[in-house]
Order: sequence, then structure tokens, then C-alpha cells
Amino acid sequence: MERILVEGGVPLMGRIRIKGAKNACLPMMAASLLTSEDIILDDVPDLDDVRTMSRLLRSLGVEVYRDRKNERIYFNSRGLNNCTAPYGPVRRMRASFLIMGPLLARMGRSRISLPGGCAIGTRPIDLHLKGLAAMGSQFTMDDGYIEAETPFLRGNRIYLDYPSVGATENIMMAAVLARGTTVIENAAAEPEIIDLASFLKYIGARIEGAGTPLIEIEGVNSLTGGHYRVIPDRIEAGTFMVAAAISGGDIILENVIPQHLTAVISKLQETGVLVEELGQSLIRIRSRGRVNAVDIKTLPYPGFPTDLQPQFMALLSLAHGTSVISETVFEKRYMHVEEMIRMGARVRIEERTAIITGQQLLQGAIVRAPDLRGGAALVLSALAARGFSEIRGINHIRRGYNRLAGRLRSLGGRVFVLP
Ligand code: UD1
Repeated sequence: MERILVEGGVPLMGRIRIKGAKNACLPMMAASLLTSEDIILDDVPDLDDVRTMSRLLRSLGVEVYRDRKNERIYFNSRGLNNCTAPYGPVRRMRASFLIMGPLLARMGRSRISLPGGCAIGTRPIDLHLKGLAAMGSQFTMDDGYIEAETPFLRGNRIYLDYPSVGATENIMMAAVLARGTTVIENAAAEPEIIDLASFLKYIGARIEGAGTPLIEIEGVNSLTGGHYRVIPDRIEAGTFMVAAAISGGDIILENVIPQHLTAVISKLQETGVLVEELGQSLIRIRSRGRVNAVDIKTLPYPGFPTDLQPQFMALLSLAHGTSVISETVFEKRYMHVEEMIRMGARVRIEERTAIITGQQLLQGAIVRAPDLRGGAALVLSALAARGFSEIRGINHIRRGYNRLAGRLRSLGGRVFVLP
């Protein structure tokens, strides 16, 4: 099994270009099911999750061609002939469930295995189902599959008890081809929702209010094709920001949208790290030595993203003083803590709260990535730790980071993939 080997203690220096957003392109890939015309997406990162979604779409009869070198992907779903998403891809990646809305809208039917993905909580899908049921879909369960069926979808007013990203996306994609108007109240407002709505509008959908808690979608008869560029990945950007800070480095990130990172930049500045916007899409991050302790509460956007909680915990494990993190989005997102403790971090978990007593040093150790972002946090800890660390289970990291080791190495990090 491949592992990442890190020799800590080298400050990262240089420039790095941030890739397109995984969580923006996965729903757009699912949305390619909504039209029989050609869709081309640019800035699609070369990730395992993108491969899983491509395989899933191919199994439904969609033509998918990837030009990895140019990070471009081409889809045509004229030949869509299957509505079943089997256990394999759905278990590997929870975002597979995003094909339910588009399949219902286009085919009036979908059969999907119950989702898997990172084991960071119970992650139910009740809000997806509630929204699609309000639009006329009937559901049955058998053999671990959810089968949805409807003669046609009709618009409705849907209130989400929680602003779920996936439920907002699934409902929005179903609604673009439904009869009449759909209103999603308490919708998620993440930048990836805005990007999905912009893409759908670009291919002919009628959507207002994406990025606010109230989204209104007026159904149309059909969508066209189009060529669209995915927004930069704010979570990857945040991960590299922490990499600069934790290693005592100074790096410039290219292809970032600073407005998507307001909460993250503000927390980083609170710890004492220098963050400078050099232009519309350039950010410089400079360490000023050991960081100060800060408190963090994860929240739906525009709050602090849960997907950067483990990486910030790595940074705070080396802070002056004690920090408190409250994880309000996913109840089990502390699986990286045990591994961090093996590297010398002092963290105590009390239900959804983590209390981190900052240490002067971490020690290299053999650790195992428990999930995608927790795995990234271990690599970050290893950048700062004394001596060598070995991170196992890097299949989790590859779901969401393209060539993380090689790109950290391009900034001077001593980070290698071992066979
Ligand atoms: C998306 C992101 C993921 C990120 C998360 C929160 C993608 C592919 N993944 O995941 O990286 O961590 O947003 O920003 O975009 N919930 C319910 N019922 C539902 C749906 C969700 O109770 O029907 C709960 C979940 O258990 C969780 C919370 O809502 O506690 C947030 O989940 P949600 O926003 O749906 O996250 P995902 O779309 O799965």
C-alpha cells in the first residue's frame, strides 16, 4: 500500500496554482445527465472522486472523455439507458447520490444504493428525499437500494430543516426540468451552489437567489450544452494556507477567490499569520513564527468550513495557549485526533468540542489517514513535526487532493510517495 513519507521542519516557499473545486465539479458532472447535448468542463481536477463519478456516469450510458493533461472533461448523455447506481461507486463516494435529482428529472426514475463516503457521521439523506417527494417522487426501499419514481416532477415550496449542500443541489437539479416553480427555503449558500446554479443557467436553466437561503427555480422544457470553467477549490486553498503557516513558510497561491475564504483568512490572521491579497486571484501567506490559540466553530457557509477543521486543528496543536473547536456540521469529524496524538498533539474531545493545548513541538510518527480531510491534516502536522512521519491510508487523501505530495515538494517540502 502506498504511503506518504514526510521529513518535517522545512519552511515551504514559492508559488502554487490551486485546482478546480472538487465539490463544484462533482454536481456539475451529475448535471450532465440533464441534457442530451455536449457538456465540456474545464479545470476539473484529476482526483479519485472525479474518476468514481466518471465511472458511475459511464455505467448509466453517458459518454465521458477526460483530457487529464488539460484538466478538461467532456460528457454526452444522449445514450443514457440505465437508472441504477450500484453499491460500488456509491459506497466509495457519497456525492454519487447527486445523480438522483437529475435522473428523476430526465428519466422519471432512479435506483441508487444507499450512500457511503467519508465515515464522519451518520450523514442521512432525509432532506434529499423530502425535497424530491414534495416534487412528486415516490420512494421504495429494497435490498439497500432506494428506488424513486414519478410520471413527472412538479415545482413546490420546500423548506430544508438544515441547509444541506447535497440536498440543495439535488433539488435544484431536479427542479430545472420540473413543471412550474420550485422554491427552496433555508437553502445552502456555499460557493459551490452558486457555481452549480451559474452552470445550469448557462445551459438554459432559470434560477434566482443561489448563494442566499431562498432559491427560486422555474422549470424549463430542456437544457442545451455548454463549455464551463469550475471555480477554484477553496478547501485546497485553505489546506495550502495552513501548509505555509505550519511549516513557518511564505507562499503565494494562484487561482483563488479570496471572498470564498473570508472566514478562513480571518481565523488565520487571528492566529498571527500574515495573509495578503495580491490581486484578484492571488494570496500570499507568510508565517510569523508560532501561532496564537484561537477558537473555531464550524458552520454552513459563510461560517468556517467543516472541511478545514482538521487542518486548522493541526496548526492549533502547535499554538501558544489553548484553542477550542466546536464541530457543528458533522458529529464524528474527530477521527484524525487519535493519530495527531501519536505525533505529540494534546487534544481532548468532549462530545462535539475539541480542546487543543498547544505544544512547542510535534514528533514524526507512523499514522493512518482516517478520512480525506483528516488525512490532509496529518500530512500538515508532519510538515511541522521533528523527524520523519509516514502517513498510511493515502487513498482517502487522493479522493480530494491532486498530487498533494508532489505539489508540497514543489514548494520545497520533503514529501514523498513510497510504494
Ligand atoms: C458537502 C460536501 C462536503 C462538506 C459538506 C458540508 C460535496 C460533494 N461534499 O457534503 O465536503 O463537508 O457539504 O459543507 O459537496 N444532513 C441531514 N440530512 C440530509 C442531508 C444532510 O441531516 O438529507 C446533515 C448531514 O448529516 C450533516 C449536515 O447535514 O450533518 C451537512 O451535510 P450536507 O451539507 O448535506 O453535506 P454533503 O452535501 O454530504
